Amino acid sequence: MAETHQEVVKVWIAPGCIVCDACETDSPEVFDVQEETCIIRPDALKPEFTKPLTPSIIVAAEGCPVDVIKFETVEVEGPEPWAGQEEEAAAAGAASGGGGGAAAATKGPVIPDGPPDPKWAGLLANARTHGSRSVETEHAQTLAARAPAEAITAALGTDAPPDAQSAAMLGSGYTRPSESVADRIRQRAGVLASAANMTRRQFSAAIAIAWGAMLATFATAGAAFQSFLVPKVTKEPPSTFRAGKISDYPEPGVYEQFKGSQQVWIIREPDGKIVALSTICTHLGCIPNWLSADGKFKCPCHGSGFYMTGVNFEGPAPRPLERFKISLDGEFLVVDKSKKFRQELGQWELPGAALAV
Ligand code: SF4
Ligand code: FES
Repeated sequence: MAETHQEVVKVWIAPGCIVCDACETDSPEVFDVQEETCIIRPDALKPEFTKPLTPSIIVAAEGCPVDVIKFETVEVEGPEPWAGQEEEAAAAGAASGGGGGAAAATKGPVIPDGPPDPKWAGLLANARTHGSRSVETEHAQTLAARAPAEAITAALGTDAPPDAQSAAMLGSGYTRPSESVADRIRQRAGVLASAANMTRRQFSAAIAIAWGAMLATFATAGAAFQSFLVPKVTKEPPSTFRAGKISDYPEPGVYEQFKGSQQVWIIREPDGKIVALSTICTHLGCIPNWLSADGKFKCPCHGSGFYMTGVNFEGPAPRPLERFKISLDGEFLVVDKSKKFRQELGQWELPGAALAV
């Protein structure tokens, strides 16, 4: 039986991407991880682009932690064109003396090349060890004082009165009399007395600081209250814009000059009508791309496809793209984005949904 293999002809992202970046690392030609989701790069919407990247797409799909990378394959006759590439790469790495190649060729843990993981580097840089100061230092001081104390008491003789022995110990610093209750009361009284001795200037400064803090609190609360009372003015861009002259759209096709600024495609249909089509995918709001070679809009997020008219025909998009009201002001086209027309509600037949010129 003839040998066959699988090649990826279509790849898309199902809802639920957690933007972990793994797929872009595995297959940067195909996946583009953006702020809120991962999308498929426009080039990778074509089978001839994805086929040779089949191994990396499969690796990315298997590595996706939430399993949202989906793909379709076709069976192709012959051996895999990429077979043996990994071994060649490993052999090349080993031949060049690279640490990774050498490590891969031997058993045991693989130690990666390059700088250490910045997370561990940061932890190591901030790590410190301290010896215990309290116990050892005090113990050493006690031992140092002990020798003269013992020498003095020995010189005094065993018959020396207890007071003399105590005096010797105290003089050497070996023992310290414990603080009496009376001393502690006196100390506390001294602290209170110094607080009571605050000068008039210190007292005035303390009062001023207290007033300042209180006024700042009231001012902040007042500003918040005023902001609550005053109606907010929305500063949205105007919904109506001029889209050039009719003569700017001579041939049937998709005109993309307002895609970025207004999120509108101007379409000249084969019958000559001009429509203003929304660029917002009706699935989850991504911006599809116009693939002129295929004659369709293709959403990079989850693969929805739309005809040039805006009608959906593949992928998860539940309905066609929306159209905006379009009219003429002299020779200029005017698009009003506040007025939308939905095909599934029969609104594309209403006046304003298309301009017959
Ligand atoms: S598609 Fe999967 S692997 Fe790629 S960023 Fe999203 S969650 Fe991560
Ligand atoms: S946003 Fe999901 S297909 Fe377009």
